[in-house]
Amino acid sequence: MNDTVTPASPAPAGTPAGHTPYSDWLQTDVLHSLQRPVSDHPGEHAWIVSAQVSELYWMLIIKEIQAAQTQLRADDLTGACRTLRRVVAHHEPLNATWRSIAWMTPVDLLAILSCVGPKYGKDTALQGWTYRQMVYLLGIKQGEHLQHFLPQPRRWEQLSKALAEPSLYDDVLAHLRRKGFAVPAVVLDRDFSAPYTPDKVVENVWREVYADPGEHRELQQLGETLADIAEGFSTWKHLHLMATRRTFGARPAYFGTEGIAWLLPTMNEIPFPELWSARGFIGDPPAMCPHARGQGNARAAE
Ligand code: HEM
Repeated sequence: MNDTVTPASPAPAGTPAGHTPYSDWLQTDVLHSLQRPVSDHPGEHAWIVSAQVSELYWMLIIKEIQAAQTQLRADDLTGACRTLRRVVAHHEPLNATWRSIAWMTPVDLLAILSCVGPKYGKDTALQGWTYRQMVYLLGIKQGEHLQHFLPQPRRWEQLSKALAEPSLYDDVLAHLRRKGFAVPAVVLDRDFSAPYTPDKVVENVWREVYADPGEHRELQQLGETLADIAEGFSTWKHLHLMATRRTFGARPAYFGTEGIAWLLPTMNEIPFPELWSARGFIGDPPAMCPHARGQGNARAAE
């Protein structure tokens, strides 16, 4: 038996010379040429990999959400739920990336950033377009963030389009309307580039969807999947805030504002607002039930 390796073995059919099907398909040579540390800090590679992995997951989530929107527009609720379950799953490794840089102290971060500035200039992740596109798709439409993309006209255009188009939540509400729920026309026909204003009638639609556990089961499944996605997103924001507290403290950040003071209010940006606010009413007993709100007081007064 001859088990010697012949280095000059020809590439398999269809694979360029010098590659294997694995390296060609997964582009491993390109992938591993993309980490270019600027400092001599031993942890910078971990920082770059962690940020690049986040970028890859944001793009993956964008593509999944767009696929789910196409399915919702075709009223394929089963398919949309299956796609959105994958978005829930992707948040697990995305959020776990924070563990990879949890060792950082302010000294570590500053050692790296002090070399990034002289080479690339002062940077802010607010100029990262994948995150912003994902956020727009989740329905958090803040047009003011477009200004950060003026140096990248192609990305500015792409994000302007994403801002003006329906979000995942808009497609969910349009689907609910087609299913016969009373989603108001003002909600469906609004200017999609403007921030979404929560609506009491939509809140009641979610209450109706959940009212009877035996009815609208697939829509309840959709609602719970959206709740999981919102939780995954908010968890990322919480972990980012904690990493900032840990490595940056109260220093002024990109805009001269204290970093934590800038980030803290964004914690309230939770997607799918009425899905959450409706939970204050879902399961309320019907008015005639002795346990209904106010009934106890009325009886006590008898
Ligand atoms: C641990 C070190 C980090 C610190 C101290 C930090 C700090 C900050 C600060 C202060 C902001 C507010 C905007 C600004 O002034 O630039 C911000 C925004 C942001 N950062 Fe980080 N960051 C860190 C790591 C990361 C990593 C690893 C990522 C992932 C790639 C990331 C992604 C983002 C995003 C997407 C925003 C915009 C958030 C929003 O709009 O709500 N950051 N960061």
